[in-house]
Amino acid sequence: MQLIKLYYENNEIHSSDITYPLEDVLKVFNSCFPEKMTIELLKEFSNICIFTLYEKELPIGMFWLERKTRDVSFMTSFAIIPSHQRKGIGSKLFQCLPAIINITDTECILFDVQKENKGSVASYEAQKNCKKLDVMNKCFICSVKGF
Ligand SMILES: CC(C)(COP(=O)(O)OP(=O)(O)OC[C@H]1O[C@@H](n2cnc3c(N)ncnc32)[C@H](O)[C@@H]1OP(=O)(O)O)[C@@H](O)C(=O)NCCC(=O)NCCS
Repeated sequence: MQLIKLYYENNEIHSSDITYPLEDVLKVFNSCFPEKMTIELLKEFSNICIFTLYEKELPIGMFWLERKTRDVSFMTSFAIIPSHQRKGIGSKLFQCLPAIINITDTECILFDVQKENKGSVASYEAQKNCKKLDVMNKCFICSVKGF
C-alpha cells in the first residue's frame, strides 16, 4: 500500500512525500461513508494507493487508486469530510486528477458512482474532465482523462 499526502492551501492542491498515519484515512472514510473501515480491513487492500488531502494538519478528503492495467487505474472512496463539503474542494481535487495521473504513470482513471447517490452524481456531472461512459447495474461508469 502506498500513501500519498496532498495539501489544500490557498485554494491549491499540492502533493508531498511525507507519510501519514492510517488512522487519518479512517477518520475521513468513517465520516463520509456508511460502511465502517478499520485498520485491519484497510491492510487487506495491499495493491492500492491512498491519497489523503490535508488542510493544515486536518485530514479533509481522500480517494484510492487501484492499478488495473498498465494504463488504467480504478478510483474508489472519493470523499470530502462533511464539514468541508459544498466549498468547491471536491471539484478542486477532481481537477487535480490529471496531475495525479502523471504521478502514478497511468493514462486513465475509471470509477463508478451509484445512481441513487444524487449528490455525488451531481458533483461528478459538474466536472469538465469527467466523462460518463456506461451504466452497469445501478452505477454510472465514468472516466477521467489525463489531459
Ligand atoms: C461527492 C463529494 C466528494 C463532493 O465534494 P464537495 O467538495 O462537497 O463538492 P463541491 O463543493 O466541489 O461541489 C461541486 C458541485 O457538485 C454538486 N454537488 C456537490 N454535492 C452535492 C449535493 N450533496 N447535492 C447536490 N449537488 C451537489 C453541486 O453542483 C456543486 O456545486 P455548487 O456547490 O456550486 O452547487 C462529497 O459530497 C462527498 O464526500 N460525499 C460523500 C462520499 C461520497 O458519496 N463519495 C462519492 C463516492 S462515488
